[in-house]
This record gives sequence, C-alpha cells and structure tokens, in this order.
Amino acid sequence: MASGTAEPEHVFKFLLVGDSGVGKSSLLLRFATGNFEEDQQATIGVDFKSRVVDVGGKRVKLTVWDTAGQERFRTLTSSYYRGAHGIVYVFDVTRRETFESLGEIWMHEVSMYSTIEDSIKMVVANKTDLGSQREVGTQECVEFAKKHGCLYVETSAKGNVAVEQAFEELVIKCLDTPALLGAPGSGKGVGLGGAGGQAGGAASSCCS
Ligand code: GTP
Ligand code: MG
Repeated sequence: MASGTAEPEHVFKFLLVGDSGVGKSSLLLRFATGNFEEDQQATIGVDFKSRVVDVGGKRVKLTVWDTAGQERFRTLTSSYYRGAHGIVYVFDVTRRETFESLGEIWMHEVSMYSTIEDSIKMVVANKTDLGSQREVGTQECVEFAKKHGCLYVETSAKGNVAVEQAFEELVIKCLDTPALLGAPGSGKGVGLGGAGGQAGGAASSCCS
C-alpha cells in the first residue's frame, strides 16, 4: 500500500478490540509509523491513528481506533464502536485465554455497541514470533474465524509480519461491500471529528 497527496476517495473507521496486552497498540504503531516498542504501555481509554493508503487503485483514509483491553475502561471504550466499518479482534497466540475472550467478551461487546451491521470483521492472531510458546493452533483459529464470519490473519507486530496485509485485506473487503461505501463517514471529504491522540476522556462521535 502506497500513499501520496491526492484526496482520499473513502474514509473508513477501523476498531481494534481484544484483551489487554495482546498487542493492539503495537499493531497500530507498526501500521501507522513502522515502529515497535518493546515496552509499549497499556492504553488508557482510547487512542487513534490515521493513515492514507492506496488499495486497488483507490485512495483510502483510515482512522484506526485502539481501545484499552483492561476491563475498567470498557464502558468508555464501547462508545467508540459506533460507525466502525472494520472490527479487528486481536488475541495473543501465547495466551489461550485471550483467544477465548474473543467469543466470550469481545464479540458480545461488538454485537451490543457497533452500529454498522455490514461491518467487516477480522480475527488477528498476534505474537507469532513467539512460536515455541504458542497455545492456539492455526487450524482452530481458522475454524473459529470462519464460524463467526471473520477474515483471519496471523501477525507479529514485533517482527513486522503481515501487519500491512491485515489492514489491506480489511480495506479490500470494505471496498467490496457496497453497503459500507454509502455508510456515514465513508465518503470523500467527510470530517473525521473528535480529538486526536490519547483520548481517555469523554466519548467522541467520530465518523458515526
Ligand atoms: P492494552 O492497551 O492494555 O489493551 O494492550 P495492547 O493490546 O495494546 O498491547 P500492547 O500493544 O501494549 O502490547 C503488550 C506487550 O506485548 C508490549 O510489551 C509489546 O511490546 C508486546 N508485543 C506486542 N506485539 C508483539 C508481538 O508481535 N510479539 C512480541 N513478542 N511481543 C509483542
Ligand atoms: Mg493498547
């Protein structure tokens, strides 16, 4: 995915959810800046980063919202689900409980609070660089993703493996879903609203 100066044709809002410590912020940092922080701090509330990408000849602006996995922030973070075109369920392949949380917690949260029925869902299995500590096999993940109508990608934010590919696949699927191209916030020139950077305060109505 390249980027340049022309105006984006579409604006998509993506949302990262999953347990604390699975690597949501690290995936976003890698995607938005190309960097990785070994001592990445737990997210307080919500954060977002934007990036313009060229996919399939189309210029797309992505605002990717990164939610805190810690339970104490759940009421706050749920208000950011509104208007998300793409939802990324992230888990850590070395901690089986984070995989189980996807079905037990995060899919319920999304079904309660997301507002775009046709949003594209993706399961991301992160930290694949820690192969010897892996607790959830690929086959099980593929079946889980299929059962829940999700795309599936295995990544390493640390090793920069398939991070770009994950976001690109989401964009391709969004562009291929007519209902999303007409969704509020997806059109050309639509303002992104909300404040940038670490939010942690009142809920924003960005892109909804
Ligand atoms: P919350 O903000 O609390 O919800 O956590 P998070 O999901 O944003 O996790 P975060 O990105 O803060 O990463 C947690 C820890 O895992 C950090 O120490 C990261 O450096 C590390 N980490 C993230 N991705 C990877 C990865 O792909 N491989 C390895 N080995 N470590 C990773
Ligand atoms: Mg975080």
